[in-house]
Amino acid sequence: MIAPLAAPSPSAPAKAPYPLVSVRNLCKHYALRAGWGFGHSVFKAVENVSFDIMPNETLGLVGESGSGKSTIGRAVTMLNPPTSGVVAFEGVDLAEQSGRDMRRMRQRMQMVFQDPYSALNPRMTVGDYVAEPLVIHGLCKTAAERRDLVAELFSKVGLDPRFMARFPHQFSGGQRQRICIARAIGVRPSFIVADEPIAALDVSIQAQVVNLLQDLQEEMGLAYLFISHDLRMVRYLCHRVAVIWKGRIVELAPSAALYGNPLHPYTRRLLSAVPVPDPALERARTRLPEVAALPDDPLAHELVEAEPGHYVARAALS
Ligand SMILES: Nc1ncnc2c1ncn2[C@@H]1O[C@H](COP(=O)(O)OP(=O)(O)OP(=O)(O)O)[C@@H](O)[C@H]1O
Ligand SMILES: [Mg+2]
Repeated sequence: MIAPLAAPSPSAPAKAPYPLVSVRNLCKHYALRAGWGFGHSVFKAVENVSFDIMPNETLGLVGESGSGKSTIGRAVTMLNPPTSGVVAFEGVDLAEQSGRDMRRMRQRMQMVFQDPYSALNPRMTVGDYVAEPLVIHGLCKTAAERRDLVAELFSKVGLDPRFMARFPHQFSGGQRQRICIARAIGVRPSFIVADEPIAALDVSIQAQVVNLLQDLQEEMGLAYLFISHDLRMVRYLCHRVAVIWKGRIVELAPSAALYGNPLHPYTRRLLSAVPVPDPALERARTRLPEVAALPDDPLAHELVEAEPGHYVARAALS
């Protein structure tokens, strides 16, 4: 079982070794109309998800399309609050924050999305776009100070500060994602949810953006929730990985343990789908068959620690 919330009193900000982010029993349910406008059913997009993210850690979230990864990312940052469960940031339950306190907390938690073009405002210069949160959070006193800070952010993400006056359509996909990252780090967050940040980018650019995320993590002590379909990139970037299947975490382990010794049949199937760069091995690779759904029994879904730090749904062990 994932340990209960280990955090000091809400008034005292948590310091390592306390988790930066603690999620407990997070559920997100959607009411669906049952046709012809009569009645409704409930769709459980995310069910009873619990995990911690330590300061300076990258937790990967992997799973097939529709498994609930983005829903978790949005619930953790309260962009789309959970139906139930607790999300604590630095030991503080986010659901209990007043509007003003929540705004302050938001500054510390940022999101980077998949499609850098739709995230940008086509009518705004990219300099203004990066400066916007600095203004909202009152981080610069004068226009000159703001300009200097934006220029510094541009340099930090590998963009020429002279590009500040340009508009989004004048940039490539990789450059646009750098602009989005510059905006996210400008308010000096300690946690970033990166939801498929490289999926829309050319393969050659993907590695550059991932390296940038790694460099920023080192420099700024950032923690990431890195959501991705790219299992090889997740292995490279993430310290620990959570595998999500039909809205539940079925396995959570340090990357080496998860990739070296996957315990859940769904994880094994997911990994069997990763192409191998060696043609002989790739020809011999067999994709494992679909995994049957687990029984709808909370005990079967409970995560148990199979080896130190390696959690798996109880049903996979029986
Ligand atoms: N507003 C909503 N109303 C009803 N169902 C929703 C809503 N938003 C998401 N869902 C459903 O919740 C499930 C999880 O969606 P989510 O976007 O989290 O998946 P995902 O794992 O991020 O998928 P992808 O890899 O394709 O991005 C999906 O089945 C989706 O259809
Ligand atoms: Mg998604």
